Amino acid sequence: MNIPQSKIDEISASLDIVDVISAYTPLRKAGKSFMGRCPYHEEKTPSFSVSQEKGVFHCFGCGKSGNMFTFVMDMENFTFFDTVKFLADKANITIEFENEPFDPDRNKVEIYYDINKKAGKYFYEKLNSREGAYAKEYLNTRGLKDDTIVKFGLGYSLRDKDALYREFENDYTAEDIQGSGLILQLGAGEIRDRFRGRLMFPIFNEAGRVVGFGGRRMYDESTDEAKYINSPETKIYNKSKILYGLNFAKNAIKQKGFVLLVEGYMDLISLFQKGIENVVASSGTSLTQLHSKILSRYTKEVVVVYDADLAGQNASRRAIELLVENDINVSILELPYGDDPDTYIQKNGIDGFERLLNNRLSIIDYIAERYETDGKMNSPEGKTEFVREIIGLIVKMRDAIKRDFYIKGIAEKFSIYESIIRKELDSVLKLKSRGLTRETNTDRPVKKPKERVSKFSAVELVLIRLLIDSDDKTKSLLMNELEMELISNDTVRKIVNYIMLNIDSPEKITHIQLFNEFQDEEAKDIIGKALLDENLIMQDIKSKNHLGEANSVLSQLKLYNIRNKIKDIEIQIKSSNDYSPEILRLLNTQQKLKREQIKIEKSLRS
Ligand code: CTP
Ligand code: MN
Repeated sequence: MNIPQSKIDEISASLDIVDVISAYTPLRKAGKSFMGRCPYHEEKTPSFSVSQEKGVFHCFGCGKSGNMFTFVMDMENFTFFDTVKFLADKANITIEFENEPFDPDRNKVEIYYDINKKAGKYFYEKLNSREGAYAKEYLNTRGLKDDTIVKFGLGYSLRDKDALYREFENDYTAEDIQGSGLILQLGAGEIRDRFRGRLMFPIFNEAGRVVGFGGRRMYDESTDEAKYINSPETKIYNKSKILYGLNFAKNAIKQKGFVLLVEGYMDLISLFQKGIENVVASSGTSLTQLHSKILSRYTKEVVVVYDADLAGQNASRRAIELLVENDINVSILELPYGDDPDTYIQKNGIDGFERLLNNRLSIIDYIAERYETDGKMNSPEGKTEFVREIIGLIVKMRDAIKRDFYIKGIAEKFSIYESIIRKELDSVLKLKSRGLTRETNTDRPVKKPKERVSKFSAVELVLIRLLIDSDDKTKSLLMNELEMELISNDTVRKIVNYIMLNIDSPEKITHIQLFNEFQDEEAKDIIGKALLDENLIMQDIKSKNHLGEANSVLSQLKLYNIRNKIKDIEIQIKSSNDYSPEILRLLNTQQKLKREQIKIEKSLRS
């Protein structure tokens, strides 16, 4: 994603930061600058100041500052790339990709976006054509109003074998149409549309661009086909990242402070039409780590509203676990058996739905209820099983205070001794930490020295730089070979983790994105140094031998780790002055580590 600096400068010069920000919070002229209420934090008296001349803003209340790009990124949760597009659009500036360093993937991505966008339009037209009358009627019987159909861009795909392909073949190559997910090549040059005779739901990404479609079966005779089929994963559609409806729901989520998580396209649209807009759908794929990370950028409160059937219950359980793991507070809105959010709100209206929302269950109550309906809460065995299950969830919470809160809650509510729950929790926690450290510590240490709070090392900075700035081969070497435990600094580990999660997304990571993602001072320091500090650009990087550099980074990380272990052991030996068998064991381990150290040092020199 190379946007030339000249373009960015052109956009900055054409737009007034005061106009850009005024769209989000009213500003008034006050002396040399403009003042308003800060959109980053709640406040009554304005402390948010914008300098028109310098093109920057600063909040004297919360300390936030930046330029129009960072502001829009924050407000819209856009990537840097989408922010530039958004602002370029406002300024009537076109960004020509041809002028950029050639990047075939980047261009493909734009073609795929283009094809999907045009396909959305095409399906919409078909819905309103004679052939789409039946589908239109179907939508009406399901209670969807015309505005809703327009807002969500619903459409219809013709039943012919290759109607869309024929429509698009003059403008695009078959490879590109296939790459965008809309046709299937069946061999021997036979081409078929992926979606035929289906109600079409465009799937949007966070920035509101169409990346794919879900298609619902329309006709009874084709019951052997799946009720829904969806676009395949493509360069622009990463299923583990896209949450259906997030582009529409953003503001409502921030405003309401929580989000409803539903399963289906129709569920989301139905709620939206009734005025409940803080909702996203996992649409068929089970929720992923990335989904929950993305959600947690908007809110830490998720209400799961899955279908009240068995599949829905199982999906809820998985979603709850995953969300809890990501430090999100989860509650569950239970629907009567057989309903889904769409059917429920159609029958009971928004009032009915809000009643259920107000009575939503905590994860503990939800699981307890499951056990109660199964009649399990009356027997000691059942109760034990219940406690184990809850503890399985509590263990996943990273926040010790939160864990404590939950333990107290369970103890009180279900008359179980707190000490029993704690004991159980401790034993699970211990198992967990043993499992995690098994590979790194083969020898059990006597007294574990205090956790090293380590400052980041130069090697770690080079690692980050390589993950962002090197060639694909080097990146994949690092992806495969890097052991995360070897990164000693927590913040570096988080940053590396983030980059790895996003490394093969079409919108390649830039430092600006990283700055947006990591707000704390240490992280900013690390990212800035990693990307900009000339002293860290080692010889090999200058000569563009990324692969060699990556290998040396990997070895050096191992070396640091070994040196630290050796130091730790030294401390332990010094602190105990008798010659116990433990000391002998430590000396032994230390010897082994030293031999390994010498080996790596040798390989680094050669
Ligand atoms: N889904 C899918 N593939 C299927 C079935 C379902 O991708 N074969 C996804 C769709 O995103 C769907 C969601 O899972 O919206 C929930 O499925 P389901 O409850 O069966 O459908 P509804 O959303 O209730 O659809 P409708 O009300 O139109 O029957
Ligand atoms: Mn439904």
